[in-house]
Amino acid sequence: MSQKPPSVIAIYPGSFDPITNGHLDLIQRGSGMFDKLIVSILRNENKEPLFSVEERTEMLREVVAGFPNVEVDSFDGLLVDHAAAHGATVLLRGIRAISDYEYELQMALMNRRLRPGIETIFMMANETYSFISSRLVKEVYGLGGNISGLVPPSVEKRMQRRIPKIQFKGAS
Ligand code: PNS
Repeated sequence: MSQKPPSVIAIYPGSFDPITNGHLDLIQRGSGMFDKLIVSILRNENKEPLFSVEERTEMLREVVAGFPNVEVDSFDGLLVDHAAAHGATVLLRGIRAISDYEYELQMALMNRRLRPGIETIFMMANETYSFISSRLVKEVYGLGGNISGLVPPSVEKRMQRRIPKIQFKGAS
């Protein structure tokens, strides 16, 4: 008699301040790889985020609504403890460039030491989005640059309400 394989639950952790199209691409691809994908927002008030955890949760829920196996959650404390509490065995992270690798490797090895049963899986960012980061999106938008195509339209609308654009009048 064949046994049903155990379902694989993955956590995709991050700050998501705000979610970008690079994150969304990873969520879409990750949702196809795992039975359940939980996008988990780090609750870290030291980072002085642009959007509160509640706002980021709403934004994420809006954009993942089309993926039935994707959930949104938030956490504080150790990521591996949060993963274990959900029965997750995979941590999903994206790598955009080699410069991401060192930090990601350190975190992956520390997380493995803390909980050897949880595996970090890296996915290469889609080359269309590999230059995008939440930090740059906020900076460019605040300085009057065009961010359409870099974040989901619903996120761009919230940015418009949150950050007044500086209109450049040329160098003086
Ligand atoms: O998108 P980010 O800000 O690079 O995500 C970083 C995140 C949330 C993955 C990382 O800061 C994290 O896992 N924080 C939780 C605290 C923790 O578990 N630290 C020890 C493992 S290295």
